[in-house]
Amino acid sequence: MLDRIEEIRTEAAGAIETAPDTAELEELRVHYLGRKAELTTILRGIAGLPAEERGQVGAGANKARQELESLLEERAGALDASELESRLATDRIDVTLPGAPARPVGHTHLITRTTRLIEDTMVGLGYRVMEGPEVEHDYYNFTALNHPPGHPARMLQDTFYMQSDPEVLLRTHTSPVQVRSMEAQPPPIFMIAPGKVYRRDSDATHSPMFHQVEGLAIGEGITLADLQGTLDELLRAIFGGNREARMRPHFFPFTEPSVEFDVSCFQCEGTGELPGGERCNLCKGIGWIEVGGAGMVDPNVLGFVEAGGYDSERVQGFAFGMGVERIAMLRHGVPDLRRFFDNDVRILEQFS
Ligand code: PHE
Repeated sequence: MLDRIEEIRTEAAGAIETAPDTAELEELRVHYLGRKAELTTILRGIAGLPAEERGQVGAGANKARQELESLLEERAGALDASELESRLATDRIDVTLPGAPARPVGHTHLITRTTRLIEDTMVGLGYRVMEGPEVEHDYYNFTALNHPPGHPARMLQDTFYMQSDPEVLLRTHTSPVQVRSMEAQPPPIFMIAPGKVYRRDSDATHSPMFHQVEGLAIGEGITLADLQGTLDELLRAIFGGNREARMRPHFFPFTEPSVEFDVSCFQCEGTGELPGGERCNLCKGIGWIEVGGAGMVDPNVLGFVEAGGYDSERVQGFAFGMGVERIAMLRHGVPDLRRFFDNDVRILEQFS
């Protein structure tokens, strides 16, 4: 009997020492020390043994039991520690990481995207982005831009004036930012000014509120050729690789000479004809599409900011302006400008 006890003890001790995890250790405890275990049965049967064996077997079995119990405890402690260790390693949460990024439920409006495309291109050419107020003074919107009294743009039917102050209006173009930006810094200046403008106009290609981007470059020796090169570059960025800008004579009060500029048609490659010989519907067979207005800044305009260093004998330059909606309509084939502002998500989400 004592031999059997020793056998059980050795076998159990070996198993306990090599138990791989706490679950298996618990099984070993049940197997060797549980109610139905052999050692338990021996201990329970001691009373029935002959008197001379009782003492030895009882002492041996109890000793074996105690020894196994303490081995179990020791191994449990070791396994607990290493299991905690590996849980800490695998379940580690780095609380300094940013949370799962929120998935945007929408995207920027096509007009914003188009504005940013123009901004990015001009910033790449060394221009700064500037802003001016949408509620503007007559002085910046008209007077300092050399608009004579009686110019049609000044008329009530074209412009929104404040009832409380007839000298204050919703700006009709972004050109007032030309004067404001020259007041803010001496030459040379290379800036663009995107923003909302307002006119009393409303049809498929005109909305009472729309967006423009103004451009202004003033320095020594800036010529119309620089304007041509700048427009070529900008129109290529907007409409693709082989585009060209074309200037046509025009009139604006604040530029002299003034031009309107076109881009070579990107649908018919400027030929005015589609592959089948049909007339190009985008440029109406002309090969060019009107994009905006531009010109050399009129010395009279520089005269309003002469005190800031804009001496028209020394510095000169060009300005240009274009409608953002018009560019977005052309680039994406949108037939009606009003769709941009109906806020019908089914339409807007196509341009993501
Ligand atoms: N401000 C003019 C318009 O809105 C465009 C323009 C800008 C023309 C700059 C010349 C120079 O029509």
